[in-house]
Amino acid sequence: MRRVLFLGPPGAGKGTQAKKISEEFNIPIIATGDLLRENVKKGTELGKIAKKYMDEGTLVPDDIMLKIIEQAIKDLDSFILDGFPRTIKQAEGLEMLLNKLNKNLEYVIYFDVPDEEIIRRLTARRICPECNRIYNLNFNPPKNDEECDECKVKLITRDDDKEQVIRKRIEVFKENTYPLVEFYDKRNILYRIDGTGDTNEIEKRIKEIIL
Ligand code: AP5
Ligand code: MG
Repeated sequence: MRRVLFLGPPGAGKGTQAKKISEEFNIPIIATGDLLRENVKKGTELGKIAKKYMDEGTLVPDDIMLKIIEQAIKDLDSFILDGFPRTIKQAEGLEMLLNKLNKNLEYVIYFDVPDEEIIRRLTARRICPECNRIYNLNFNPPKNDEECDECKVKLITRDDDKEQVIRKRIEVFKENTYPLVEFYDKRNILYRIDGTGDTNEIEKRIKEIIL
């Protein structure tokens, strides 16, 4: 049983590593960005509200996110959280929710990646609209020209992967989300890793912590 949180700036590799660890240990991923994007795609009420914030690189309101997470988490014993919490208020809400469910968060992994590397990564990211697999035209290209290795469908660019929006997301991260490093450090469950280098090396760094 593992309850893990991946914390880090946009483009830090949270989604990439979540997929690897999830497949290896058979732990479900709760990725709030993916959940919201699915709602935008389906045109749900939530999707309509969320789109406005996502397109400008700001955060969807805490009360909405807390409701989503409660639904997603309540029946799971193990999980990897990717993209939630992102504010102190969300972290406090999660703590209350887990207390109520008699569960606790075990590991918070913070991915350290410099800003310029983030911009380089995100301007070259492509994702699969079917399975959410993540690619990079420079660092992790698909086998066939812009097509998902698994689903064979054409890869897409995320609407928020434009340089101006990426810079806004980095700023929002520093202001709202970075304070969670101290929040979890105080609870003695924070582990920092270098998020640069080969993705398999980074996976090893994570496994050494959660094994
Ligand atoms: P979300 O989808 O969570 O985006 P994010 O936090 O900005 O993070 P990313 O998904 O961009 O980066 P990642 O760390 O997953 O990196 P990846 O593995 O893809 O959120 C989107 C929006 O939804 C938010 O802006 C907000 O509006 C809303 N939202 C979501 N959750 C919310 C919440 N809790 N509260 C409020 N609002 C919320 O990797 C990036 C690229 O780098 C890829 O191309 C990858 O192939 C490449 N790469 C990965 N690792 C390496 C490596 N080691 N070397 C080189 N390249 C690499
Ligand atoms: Mg992601």
